[in-house]
Amino acid sequence: MTAKKIYLRSFGCQMNEYDSEKIVDLMVDNGYERTDKVEDADLVVLNTCSIREKSQEKVFSELGRIRDTKREAHKDDMLIAVGGCVASQEGKKILSRAPYVDIVFGPQTLHRLPEMVGKVNDTHKPQVDIRFPEIEKFDHLAEPKARGATAFVSIMEGCSKYCSYCVVPYTRGEEISRPMADVLIEVAKLAAQGVKEVTLLGQNVNAYRGETPDGDIADFAMLLEYVAEIDGIERIRYTTSHPKEFTQRLIDAYGKIDKLVNHVHLPVQSGSDRILAAMKRGYTVLEYKSIIRRLKAIRPDISIATDIIVGFPGETEEDFQATLKLMDDVGFDASFSFVYSRRPGTPAAYLKDDTPQEVKLKRLQILQVKNDAKATEIAQSMLGTVQRVLVIGPSRRGRGMMAARTDNNRIVNFVGDESLTDTMVNVRITEVNPHTLLGERV
Ligand code: 5AD
Ligand code: SF4
Repeated sequence: MTAKKIYLRSFGCQMNEYDSEKIVDLMVDNGYERTDKVEDADLVVLNTCSIREKSQEKVFSELGRIRDTKREAHKDDMLIAVGGCVASQEGKKILSRAPYVDIVFGPQTLHRLPEMVGKVNDTHKPQVDIRFPEIEKFDHLAEPKARGATAFVSIMEGCSKYCSYCVVPYTRGEEISRPMADVLIEVAKLAAQGVKEVTLLGQNVNAYRGETPDGDIADFAMLLEYVAEIDGIERIRYTTSHPKEFTQRLIDAYGKIDKLVNHVHLPVQSGSDRILAAMKRGYTVLEYKSIIRRLKAIRPDISIATDIIVGFPGETEEDFQATLKLMDDVGFDASFSFVYSRRPGTPAAYLKDDTPQEVKLKRLQILQVKNDAKATEIAQSMLGTVQRVLVIGPSRRGRGMMAARTDNNRIVNFVGDESLTDTMVNVRITEVNPHTLLGERV
């Protein structure tokens, strides 16, 4: 008998990508093989995102295409499943908009997918399960499998910050941390399979409060210290964090833990205190800058990335200028910027919003131009420096070149041989191009 095939498409953030990997691993353990052709699939899974309207709409157009493929390929037995945050938010309503969907599951019930597939096959009735059964999910996932030298490990789920514009607390539930031992065991298993760089994942990793084996509670700084002790782990990243819980203990960790990358993603969202308050972020611009200042006191050349929302309801030109000023003050290495997207059910959805969309788009463009200029400047400043990089594999440039990634997420191409793949090496940056760097091994 040939194995059943799963086609999976991920639409969202890193958390969503992580969940997607877990879904595939789980189905592989249940006898499935992955395919990249919808027409060959027995099970199609769309793992969705609802953080902004655009991502949500993409899901429904993709669903329509899948229904057509199913029809054209005469695959009457093909099951279509929708998971992730759109599923969590819309639940049964997905079935009224797309009645050909068989399974709707949420981010916290993905471990139930094999069982739900069985139920649809037995009953020929659609199955919906979007509950938040605590952290049960992690107890039912497949063993962690390394896919190269980098891996993601989820340390906490959900979010309890309730920023006024954001759906995450509603789609993924409240913050809940995995016990510390579970996280450490997962990292150790991955390290034993050759993982050298681990990215600790969570909507708010620094809200981590994991139970320790002796019944105490570990904070994120403590977790980092333990992860750093694991043999084989050479580089630790995490994403994403929140300024409100960026404690001095976490800042001090940058002095103690060499394995922590010289890069942090710390979403600020706006440079105006008035807007930050309306967003319910829980900090001021001054407090944000104080974190950065204290981080730079320990790691002077640390690279800072951020997220920015432009056009939040009531954002004036003056507020926007304050955001541009903050960009100058901090010198972000990357800012992931978005136009505010109204999310039904969130408090901000009821705020008066009289800024025209064209003005918002213009602001986004100004912000992005500024961001690109700064990113180029930072790349230029890397010229001549020696960087410790993780080799990804042969470079797309060919000609005996290998590609590697720096702490601050830049690709460096250098002459080297393929046996270096998945190892850490030192390279000196010899040339800075618009999208890549050139280096030589030292
Ligand atoms: N509109 C625009 N951007 C949003 N984000 C979250 N919710 C919204 C929204 N309603 C952005 C924030 C967050 C990132 C993951 O997505 O900047 O940090
Ligand atoms: Fe959303 Fe705010 Fe939680 Fe981030 S911290 S997931 S923006 S509610």
